Amino acid sequence: KNEINIGLLGFGVVGSGVAKILHDHQDDLSYKLGVPVKIKKVLVKDTEKERDTELQRDIFTADLDEIIDDPSIDLIVEVIGGTSEAKQAIERSLLSGKGVVTANKDVMAESGLELLKLADENKSDLFYEASVGGGIPLIRTLEDGLSSDRIRALTGIVNGTTNFILTKMKHENKSYEEALAEATELGFAEADPSADVDGIDAARKMVILSSLAFSTEVRMEDVFVRGMKDIKPGDLELAEQFGYTVKLAGSAKKDDNGIEVAVEPVFLPNSHPLSSVNNEFNAVYVYGDAVGETMFYGPGAGSLPTATSVTSDIMAACRNLLLGVNGKRLHAPQHTCKVKKDSQ
Ligand code: HSE
Repeated sequence: KNEINIGLLGFGVVGSGVAKILHDHQDDLSYKLGVPVKIKKVLVKDTEKERDTELQRDIFTADLDEIIDDPSIDLIVEVIGGTSEAKQAIERSLLSGKGVVTANKDVMAESGLELLKLADENKSDLFYEASVGGGIPLIRTLEDGLSSDRIRALTGIVNGTTNFILTKMKHENKSYEEALAEATELGFAEADPSADVDGIDAARKMVILSSLAFSTEVRMEDVFVRGMKDIKPGDLELAEQFGYTVKLAGSAKKDDNGIEVAVEPVFLPNSHPLSSVNNEFNAVYVYGDAVGETMFYGPGAGSLPTATSVTSDIMAACRNLLLGVNGKRLHAPQHTCKVKKDSQ
């Protein structure tokens, strides 16, 4: 192969960031891979819309078939978001033998295991680093960096929007509505921000992380979820008065009784490192038997941070394509652990 061609599905906050990184870093990327990586086609709903991009107008199409059926396209990058359309596109791509990179936590939380199996059966890759923690390489850390350890627990802040809102309310006296509008404006919030504020987005990310960490299948219905709306108006002031900070936190732990996964507002003493994780930043602690305590911190949402994870996945998929291999990324036998949620 003397070049790698990408079919980019979606050109929103993340998709446009991916195009920008591939363009701005093209020399570095080609140098590292030994071949250039190019976006050959982009799937959008409206091909006529004015877009601020270096990409040629004629590569935008509204026809998914045109991309999947193009034999010169090696890799599909799914950044449409949502569930059914995105899942179908991922399945079709894998079935056609193309590798897939996705940022889609909704699809990976609901159907990750099934799709990873499909990828494996079709000898294709499926990478999903950007589905959790924006620019923080958490998936890779659990899959590779800490793969020799026995992970006992994970805890942290995995939703940028709610963290941004809580930060603005605490430090800038903004109202919930003002802060949410700002998070939406900055491209942090989901298309339907109730997924953020109700804790669903964080729950999806905890499903993905805990499935990987504990090598089992954790499902959305196994997660105890309480969103931001359970934070009462006086809670933030009360917390402040006593030297605490309110955060929406995710936690997952495994012991002899099973696995517990939860997302809920928590009071953290101001001396706790998570209490100073502000704005759209995320931070996750991972506790392993051998490694002890590790902490991962970085921007949890936003165009370029999330696009960095997507583009690094593109690099990993390209390396595999050039070597003619596909990473065996099946991580979990189904239902090896009983998940309980009754001890909150
Ligand atoms: N809405 C998500 C968040 C985007 O705020 O964390 C990144 O997954």
